[in-house]
Amino acid sequence: PHKSRVTVVGSGNWGSVASKLIASNTQKINSFHDEVRMWVFEETLPSGEKLAEENVKYLPGIKLPKNVVADPDLEHAVRDANMLVFVTPHQFMEGICKRLVGKIRKDAVAISLIKGMEVKREGPCMICTLISKILGISCVLMGANIANEFSEATVGYREDKEIAEKWVRLFNTPYFMVSTVEDVEGVELCGTRKNVVALAAGCNNEDWLERDEGLLKLLFPSVKDNTFFESCEVADLITTCLGGRNRRCADAFARNGGKRSFDELEAEMLQGQKLQGVSTAKEVYEVLHHRGWLELFPLFATVHEICSGRLAPSTIVEYTEHSARLP
Ligand code: NAD
Ligand code: 13P
Repeated sequence: PHKSRVTVVGSGNWGSVASKLIASNTQKINSFHDEVRMWVFEETLPSGEKLAEENVKYLPGIKLPKNVVADPDLEHAVRDANMLVFVTPHQFMEGICKRLVGKIRKDAVAISLIKGMEVKREGPCMICTLISKILGISCVLMGANIANEFSEATVGYREDKEIAEKWVRLFNTPYFMVSTVEDVEGVELCGTRKNVVALAAGCNNEDWLERDEGLLKLLFPSVKDNTFFESCEVADLITTCLGGRNRRCADAFARNGGKRSFDELEAEMLQGQKLQGVSTAKEVYEVLHHRGWLELFPLFATVHEICSGRLAPSTIVEYTEHSARLP
């Protein structure tokens, strides 16, 4: 049989690490073509240099293996691949998918490592669903992994276990353990939700381990209970709330009493990397508002009101005290 060819769409912090991880496996496993293509959103650095194989901006100091080939041409990068790994900040995905219609192989399958969602008139649209709707293909991979200290993940799949296992072979290493669960929405929603909770943690909410699985099930009744025991749920929640970018920026936001905006802090602290929690909080808020559920999920509603400057960061503590007094 022909070897599978992998392209990674995205080359930020996690995109670069994921490419490195995948490339170490494609070198060893015969069923994959050695070369991993990585689409790079082309940027000219202040030095005049262009982003290339050593991702000096998003993964400084780490050389990517020789079998990772950076490609700034999106169409060219995906043309020969039958395994597509999507890993860009979520806000860019809709545009990217539209550009890819009719440009990918007919037998291509895809996986999304992206945490976030879009809100459409008809309700929330998970990124994986967006990819499926536009390109007709997809699985998800989420879990307790911060790019520079990756460790484990869960692959969520819909029906096709064989494809899920192929993704596990591509990602699994002794230092990155991957399991599977037949629940795309559950896995993705866990990853999406915890970026909002990490903002609450940064604003000194001590209840961040509160697990609002109720919201996930209300949004998508198909979400399964056993998904909550996988890496994508509590392990990722703890990892991100303790050390992620959302947590760090929210810490700084709260220390400044909300006087410096998240946009300003993101630009200064992350140097081009993107926060997903702030826009996700807004998206979750819109869904809650639209469905009349704001009072059911005050933590999520309060986080958005803090991020948008309507409430002070300290409100999150008052919220915690208030909800502790509820019967
Ligand atoms: P990042 O935060 O490093 O994002 C920057 C990337 O976006 C760069 O590659 C940049 O070139 C690109 N970019 C900027 N403007 C763009 C545009 N207009 N169009 C397309 N691309 C553009 O990215 P990341 O850390 O790889 O995160 C990607 C996804 O992976 C996110 O959803 C994130 O939540 C998720 N994730 C990240 C981590 C992590 O530790 N970094 C871990 C797990 C999951
Ligand atoms: P941050 O974007 O907060 O660093 O979280 C990364 C992540 O998704 C870890 O699973």
